[in-house]
Amino acid sequence: MTSQKPSHLFYQSRSRRPQLDRADGVYMWDTSGKRYLDGSSGAMVSNIGHSNQNVLQAMRAQMEKSTFGYRLHFETDPSERLAEKTASLTPAGLDRVFFVSGGSEAVESAIKLARQYAIAVGQATRWKVISRTPSYHGCTLGALALTGYTTLTEPFAPMMRTMPKIPAPRAYLDGLDLNNPATGHYYADMLEAKILAEGEDSVLAFIVEPVGGASTGALVPPDDYMPRIREICDRYGVLLIHDEVMSGGGRTGRFFAAEHWNTTPDIIAISKGFGAGYAPLGAMIAHDRVVDAVLDAGGFAHGFTYAGNPLACSAGLAVINEIETNGMVENAATIGDLLKSRLEDLMTKYEFIGDVRGKGLLLAFELVSDRETMTPLAVALNAYNRLVDIAYDNGLIIYSRRSRDGLEGDHFLVCPPMITNEQHVDEIVDMLDKSLKQFSAEIVKQ
Ligand SMILES: Cc1ncc(COP(=O)(O)O)c(C=O)c1O
Repeated sequence: MTSQKPSHLFYQSRSRRPQLDRADGVYMWDTSGKRYLDGSSGAMVSNIGHSNQNVLQAMRAQMEKSTFGYRLHFETDPSERLAEKTASLTPAGLDRVFFVSGGSEAVESAIKLARQYAIAVGQATRWKVISRTPSYHGCTLGALALTGYTTLTEPFAPMMRTMPKIPAPRAYLDGLDLNNPATGHYYADMLEAKILAEGEDSVLAFIVEPVGGASTGALVPPDDYMPRIREICDRYGVLLIHDEVMSGGGRTGRFFAAEHWNTTPDIIAISKGFGAGYAPLGAMIAHDRVVDAVLDAGGFAHGFTYAGNPLACSAGLAVINEIETNGMVENAATIGDLLKSRLEDLMTKYEFIGDVRGKGLLLAFELVSDRETMTPLAVALNAYNRLVDIAYDNGLIIYSRRSRDGLEGDHFLVCPPMITNEQHVDEIVDMLDKSLKQFSAEIVKQ
């Protein structure tokens, strides 16, 4: 599977993957003709599947007109229409949209807008953004300072302004009952304690992935968590930022994951499923009150050259149109339930699957050496890479991370596109079963 020929590209390691030839729907083919089922939608991006002809047609039509118009020189029809459409999908009051080209840019934009808002309303002492461990908010230094994932943050720690963190609500590790309201309050109240410890006048915002992404492995908070977080933010005048870079766009069975708990943030960051792999696209969506204060005070001192370009926006519009006309959010909810129950079935077969979690088609399972104590597998087994490689050879793409702040533990995201049907679920589970069996034989040998 790996080629010896060196590449000029360097991403994470020297090992190589096959060359992509084409992709269609939930499948991808390499240049040798081998077919893969894209069981993670890339990095939870290709939400509507590959090569959607309506999106390609919309992009082609836009390309014939213009691919770029600098946002300070021209307004464009696709960016205006996408902003209006996006605002129509958010809770009341979140009507202002700032386009970017990816998730890190969306998060950077959110914290910079929050800071400028604080200055505009005479609260310049507020600058700390509290986040959670583990979490992933992006790779640029501002977003990385919010990220709680030791292996990614440690090398850059001296270059960043350290931001306060609270633990993510990992009830499954702490042995707490997810369905007991006290559990949600227990974790949410850690935010209040942190605000008080830091000094309430210094805290600008709290950023949270309503349903966790790669760092936590699709962590779903207890039901009372998000509403309580909102209450605490209100009590201390702290802005609430929802990082829906991965969870936004329908994957959890609602367009925004926070809709599961009806909580309204002040700012939302969205990206991956927004452009769905057709164009680099993301957005920060903010409350009118926040934006108006910043504009009245002289404007938002921030922006990216490619932001709001008409080609990416035409793709984004067509993606939302496909999601809506084909009922993909509803499909993510029902097929997600089916896939989740099939993953849970695998737990009865494989003792080392310690947890299955997630909502809709944002799903994950975690491997452990002991389900009772949730002790992780030995780090040296390198399970998070090994199982991905075995599945890859079997024609299934899944996505993995170390579960415990990047240091140990192994979880795997199973997040196929929102067009997944029952037959695809069978294929995914068959290939996963085969891969787990091979993996299990390997670890018994060691
Ligand atoms: C929750 C979350 N926020 C931010 C980001 C950063 O997005 P990007 O890689 O597009 O910069 C990611 C990417 O995985 C993410 O999952």
